[in-house]
Amino acid sequence: MYEELALFELAIWLGLPAWVANATPVLGGGGRPIDGGRHLRDGRRLFGKGKTVRGFIVGLIFGTLTGLAQFYAAPYLRPLLVMFVTITPDMDYVLSMQIPVAVLMSFGALTGDLLGSFIKRRIGVESGNPSPVMDQLGFIIMALIFAAPIFEPSSVFVMILIVTTLFIHWVSNVLGYLIGLKKHPW
Ligand code: CTP
Ligand code: MG
Repeated sequence: MYEELALFELAIWLGLPAWVANATPVLGGGGRPIDGGRHLRDGRRLFGKGKTVRGFIVGLIFGTLTGLAQFYAAPYLRPLLVMFVTITPDMDYVLSMQIPVAVLMSFGALTGDLLGSFIKRRIGVESGNPSPVMDQLGFIIMALIFAAPIFEPSSVFVMILIVTTLFIHWVSNVLGYLIGLKKHPW
């Protein structure tokens, strides 16, 4: 039981920089769009008005700061974990994630988000309209791919992280619907 809980906690630990990099542009974004308003030959924007330079920078900064905080918090978290579970090398690997990993994951998350918008525009989805799976998972998968040259967590954490990311999106959408921020619960 504690064992499973620890795996789950570490999967969240692994996802934090990418989640923060993905979420903070919503609050701190705006201003000049990354594509500068350019259209491609299909008549649609390169990325669209929802992808701004400031949003990208804000995401990169806050995702990195999250990794920095985690780096300094890890030595304090470790003894707490040890009280409940035996820390395996796989767990230690994720727990002692270094700051450059958080930078790559933040950069990857934001690039994945951009790539998602690029694809959405090409298939004719308007800025702000949903595109299932890509909206929810594009950023986290790209974050892991960007970090992969220096950081390869074991697949159990990756799988838990992906399922948890889907679940958090679903919960936040349902909550947004219940408190009246969203028109639909999806
Ligand atoms: N945002 C930003 N810069 C980014 C990413 C996001 O400023 N690089 C802000 C924008 O205000 C955007 C909001 O965060 O509208 C929500 O982000 P997201 O859902 O990723 O963008 P959408 O507006 O839905 O656009 P798209 O259809 O291209 O995903
Ligand atoms: Mg969106």
